[in-house]
Amino acid sequence: MDLFPRWLEALEERHMRALSFQEVRRSVQALSSLYVERRNRLGEGAALDGAGKRAAFAVYFAPLHFLLVREIVKALGADRAKAPALLDLGCGTGVAGAAWASLMAPAPRVSGVDRNPWAASEARWTYGAFGLESSAKAIDINTFKAPDRTAIVAAFILNELPEEARERWKDSMLRTAERGSPVLIVEPIAKKLSPWWDEWAEAFIAAGGRSDEWRFRMALPERLALMDKAAGLDHRELTGRSLWVQKKN
Ligand SMILES: C[S@@+](CC[C@H](N)C(=O)[O-])C[C@H]1O[C@@H](n2cnc3c(N)ncnc32)[C@H](O)[C@@H]1O
Repeated sequence: MDLFPRWLEALEERHMRALSFQEVRRSVQALSSLYVERRNRLGEGAALDGAGKRAAFAVYFAPLHFLLVREIVKALGADRAKAPALLDLGCGTGVAGAAWASLMAPAPRVSGVDRNPWAASEARWTYGAFGLESSAKAIDINTFKAPDRTAIVAAFILNELPEEARERWKDSMLRTAERGSPVLIVEPIAKKLSPWWDEWAEAFIAAGGRSDEWRFRMALPERLALMDKAAGLDHRELTGRSLWVQKKN
């Protein structure tokens, strides 16, 4: 059963009770400009620093990320991967972990990590809404190490890390894959946002993985479509790119 529609409805109730549609719309626009034009402020945690922006992230951007990750997982056949546990790195509200884990059978135990305590607590709620055995903790991944025998999903996070920490995660993820657990990375297509991409793609391909760009045309759920239009954005086509590696047996 697809739990996405019910989760989306519950999300709206949870976050829009105290805010009007127009307030959230303004925050969607503010967040969008923060991600595109003022990325230098992300390191200060500016993306999730007020009720409006949190609501905009939770009810608009996060469900879009969910839909994109779910399509990518299906297109890669990552839904057939087997893993006892899944680490959702920089989990935000937990959508990437929930999207992937809820397509796997049996579903892995999901652990979300995010330095923002609000995000970690939202992720706990999201995993619960998808019936996943899970935990989510407020942890800075610049110093955190991936557990053994655990698949990794890292969606829209690597760009936010300092170069040194990102490099460390590259080695760590390639080791994870070498030991037999799959790894999925999702980022926006815009090349100028991630100058490191080509080097990572080479490393993942050399490890037996792949690098892809995706464009999925889809009819968004009504409320997401309304917000999209009101904010002057256009997500009728969901786009992103991925790195995927899974050791063949
Ligand atoms: C753009 S959001 C993506 C969230 C989620 N993965 C998704 O796809 O919706 C990036 C997240 O990374 C988190 N983050 C950034 N730097 C971090 C760090 N050093 N350690 C842990 N989390 C971090 C932020 O708090 C934010 O929740």
